[in-house]
Amino acid sequence: MLKDKLVIAIDGHSSCGKSTLAKAIARKLDYVFIDSGAMYRAVTYYALKNKMIVNDLIQIEKIIKSLPKIDLEFKLNRITKTPEIFLNGKNIADDIRKPEIANFVSQVAEIKEVRQKLVSEQQKMGTNGGIVMDGRDIGSVVFPNADLKFFVTADIETRTTRRFEELQAKGVKISIQEVQANLLKRDQIDTTRIESPLVKVHDAITIDNSKLSREEQLTIALDYIDAIISQN
Ligand code: DC
Repeated sequence: MLKDKLVIAIDGHSSCGKSTLAKAIARKLDYVFIDSGAMYRAVTYYALKNKMIVNDLIQIEKIIKSLPKIDLEFKLNRITKTPEIFLNGKNIADDIRKPEIANFVSQVAEIKEVRQKLVSEQQKMGTNGGIVMDGRDIGSVVFPNADLKFFVTADIETRTTRRFEELQAKGVKISIQEVQANLLKRDQIDTTRIESPLVKVHDAITIDNSKLSREEQLTIALDYIDAIISQN
């Protein structure tokens, strides 16, 4: 069957450059780009705002109960050409990037009911193909039959520096040690949790971008995509 609108899954650790790659591929192919991590961050934002995380304690039952009240939607920003996440009609694209969200998001993402809701919404977004989604369980759980799966990785020093510079550019006051500690903590939770841990599935192509520029990384990925398209 000829298929010109592929489903592309990209997984990897925090701050490894997977969203950058996903965004660039989507732009090149005129596909929809979905940052699934933004959805877990949005639920975390809701939980913090509604006092379901108090004194570092996550009130799991309260979060589960409130899930039907959480309406998430991506809308394209016409200027940046990037989808932005809206929670119950409010644009929270910037709010979800704050360190206080990063501190709790991996724990919120461990909750089975949260994952069930978000995975089902993500699968609906992929029904017509023409989508690049990045996250932790995209190739394993969300789109196990994706046309192409990438596992993006980079060494911890590279990831720390990138994330630190990104936060500094946004004016966030944080030390490089704190950034690295948060990344390592999230890696630990994301790879060892019971519900859909981050894994490299057998049919994923690994791209280690520690020593690659964004353009080089994109070229590698596009070569694989071209190969799939020309097989169809
Ligand atoms: O990609 P990110 O750093 O914005 O993701 C935030 C958190 O959400 C990350 O610590 C793990 C979780 N996550 C997940 O469990 N499954 C996904 N598909 C995407 C993100």
